[in-house]
Amino acid sequence: MATTASYGLGEFTFPRGWFMVARSTDIGKVPVALRMLGRDLVLYRGQSGRAVLLDAYCPHMRAHFAAPQSDEAAAKRIEGDAIRCPYHAWRFGPDGRCDHVPYFDGPIPHAARVRAYPVEERFGCIFVWHDTEEGAPDYDLPSLPEWDDPQWLRGEYDDLGAIAVHPQEIIDNLGDTQHFGPIHGQRLVYFDTTFDGVIGRQRSGGGHETMAVGDSVMDVDAFYTGPGILVARYAGTTDAVQIVLHTPKEDGVTQIWHGLLTKARNSPPTAEDVAVQQGYHDVGLAAFSQDFEIWRTKEAAITILRLPTDGPFHRSRTWYRQFYNPRARAGDYQARADGVHATVGVAPHPSAQVAAE
Ligand code: FES
Ligand SMILES: [Fe+2]
Repeated sequence: MATTASYGLGEFTFPRGWFMVARSTDIGKVPVALRMLGRDLVLYRGQSGRAVLLDAYCPHMRAHFAAPQSDEAAAKRIEGDAIRCPYHAWRFGPDGRCDHVPYFDGPIPHAARVRAYPVEERFGCIFVWHDTEEGAPDYDLPSLPEWDDPQWLRGEYDDLGAIAVHPQEIIDNLGDTQHFGPIHGQRLVYFDTTFDGVIGRQRSGGGHETMAVGDSVMDVDAFYTGPGILVARYAGTTDAVQIVLHTPKEDGVTQIWHGLLTKARNSPPTAEDVAVQQGYHDVGLAAFSQDFEIWRTKEAAITILRLPTDGPFHRSRTWYRQFYNPRARAGDYQARADGVHATVGVAPHPSAQVAAE
């Protein structure tokens, strides 16, 4: 299995950034065991509604905080925003510190704590801030105003599961100009790739076999905010927002989710708009699956036999390295990746001022 070291990405096995760990609907009244970013974790919703993510093993005798129990017993272990361990009922706050032991009145040892992770819940997803250096978040999650707009309709996120592919192969998509025809049946009219700090953006326009009608041009603005969150806005036959979230589960194994929103034509939205949304969700998922099936079955491209007319893979790989190295050096990678990059032989976005490389 190709790992972070295989690609020579940097010092850290897992990248720095915001990553989805679960859908909001995945947690109810009982704590959930997760395996993400090479760690065993417990995720639960405190009684205030807040989502809490902790390392899974109790510092007392290493019980798993989400060890299987009846739902009733498990739900009772959540007190306020704290959780009790199932084994001897030590209680840990959302900051990971033990604040109560039912059978001990003395001072609680300093070591009675677990790592607690910064968590944000946005647009139906629970995100963790992961940083090997344990620093605070240095960028914000993307905003998605469509999520709260009643004109925009949505279905559930698809949980596509984990595949044995390193996320590097998914990030390569950012500069991949020449897969649009063979994989998506898309006739590209323009395409470019832009890097700006932690943002990696792909702009494309063209006909599309399944997502656009006839010869109409569908404009797609697809951008990563950090290494794991892709938001793609589609304008054309149907206005849509596609969300693809990927999170390293193990080194070389990646978990993927997919979501899609469409803008209703009528105000307020009608049953017909809901049907259009459902149909377009399926079409969007099918189009995404065309990429997904390639990733799922491919061998690792540790190096790419890149042609000048392929697209700026070298820039996207440099951009991606910023997340695998100490924050103090991220700017070096950004400086080498930043800018608008066109592909030889393909027009850039009409607004772009670039030289093909
Ligand atoms: S193992 Fe958690 S309280 Fe004992
Ligand atoms: Fe694709």
